[in-house]
Amino acid sequence: MKGIVLAGGKGSRLYPITLGVSKQLLPVYDAPMIYYPLSVLLKAGISEILIISSPDQLPGFQNLLGNGSEIGVSFSYASQEAPRGIAEALIIAETFIEGDSCTLILGDNLFYGDGVEMGLQKAIHSGGASIFSYPVKDPERYGVIDFDAAGDPQDIIEKPANAPSNRAVTGLYVYPNSAVDVAKGLKPSARGEIEITDVNKHYLKTGNLQVIGLSKSDSWFDTGTI
Ligand code: DAU
Repeated sequence: MKGIVLAGGKGSRLYPITLGVSKQLLPVYDAPMIYYPLSVLLKAGISEILIISSPDQLPGFQNLLGNGSEIGVSFSYASQEAPRGIAEALIIAETFIEGDSCTLILGDNLFYGDGVEMGLQKAIHSGGASIFSYPVKDPERYGVIDFDAAGDPQDIIEKPANAPSNRAVTGLYVYPNSAVDVAKGLKPSARGEIEITDVNKHYLKTGNLQVIGLSKSDSWFDTGTI
């Protein structure tokens, strides 16, 4: 199992703070933001991790994290030339993933709780594709899961005007190796990005997506805004 932290983007919702520094390097309590998603991967036992960011911001992450040998893991780095979509991380990481499965986490997503750790273990051991949902008050800001009458997921809608549920898709994804090819086959959405939601919908439509529900006793924050 390989790990990927996607830590690019413009951070434009946090301007002017992020004009000079990457959002994922900003302090959250006593640590740079990226420590939190990294610790989710490390706690799950993932020791080969690729950090992807924009070409201008990548040196900041390399200065902070080095090659990982000090803590007995391996960090490597790759750049995303432009923010063309979260799913592009899978394409950029193709040679790093090299036939393995992968766990992708967004560098601005903070998770905490036993449910996250246990859910990630379950996802990793399943060998398939898994996403994690979390109840929110403002689902229209996220990818949202639509459930059928039996409570099974039937669709995922990216930033719906009228949300079908309050269950947001968080920025933690576990995929089999086939996700690289799924991402390669995607067309850009109306907002010009190759959408991670379309990767998830592919696995949902083929009956191969596990949706792991986190509860309010766990914590999840998408730190994209003030
Ligand atoms: O946080 C969870 C949400 O993340 C999901 O519910 C949505 O389904 C998913 O599309 C995504 O929505 P966001 O609107 O939060 O995505 P955003 O464009 O803000 O990107 C999330 C992070 O990924 C952000 O820190 C920037 C980084 N990023 C994004 C894109 C599109 C990149 O590094 N490269 C990119 O190409």
